[in-house]
Amino acid sequence: MSGTAVLEQVPLFSQLAPAELQRVVDVARERTYPKNSVILFEDDPGDALYVVAQGQVKVVLIGEDGREVILSVLGQGEFFGEMALIDDEPRSAHVIAMEDSTLIVLRREDFQGILRQSPGIALALLKELSRRLRRVDEKVGSLVLLDVNGRVAQLLLELADEEGGERITRRLTHHTIAQMIGSSRETVSRTMRELVDRGLIEVSRKDITIRDRGALEAAAGRS
Ligand code: CMP
Repeated sequence: MSGTAVLEQVPLFSQLAPAELQRVVDVARERTYPKNSVILFEDDPGDALYVVAQGQVKVVLIGEDGREVILSVLGQGEFFGEMALIDDEPRSAHVIAMEDSTLIVLRREDFQGILRQSPGIALALLKELSRRLRRVDEKVGSLVLLDVNGRVAQLLLELADEEGGERITRRLTHHTIAQMIGSSRETVSRTMRELVDRGLIEVSRKDITIRDRGALEAAAGRS
């Protein structure tokens, strides 16, 4: 897909008139990152905003003992790297390619210029930041209030909602899910098996399907 085609689909830029979008495309650069390469390092200064054109990246914190907590997984059309550009603080987390990924890169000055000229973009950015804050709130709540079973159920519901339905096509290993909910791979594998056995979800090679939303919501403490 071309850079223009990707940017057109990014909610952040969908506010722009065609000529304005073209200006963004003109100043943007495309870069590819192989699987497992670090795109941004926590604490580095921020000099660019990134949009995922193809592939998948994870936003992570890495402890001194090397353990990873995944704050978010971002796919096509999603952006990252905005925080350091907004508050002039260092990068808040590492961002690592989970698969070979192509990114569209906007330099700090270009992004800030676009923000200044287009209140629509500033509003879309605020909307996305609010959405991310809500997800962090949910995550903090689930870490404190739910057991692993509940946290897995909550994550599955969240991922299905993101795709607007009952299917999760995003590729996530049990190890990744464990890093997203603060658990171990073994526990996640056991929990997923139980959810399948109880008929709450169905797992195939390509996707995960929610079969009993009511029961999954109950497990996630939503009812
Ligand atoms: P920045 O701090 O510049 O660099 C790391 C980026 O990771 C950050 O901008 C955000 O784009 C992204 N990020 C940090 N925390 C979260 C989160 N909780 N959810 C989604 N994205 C995040």
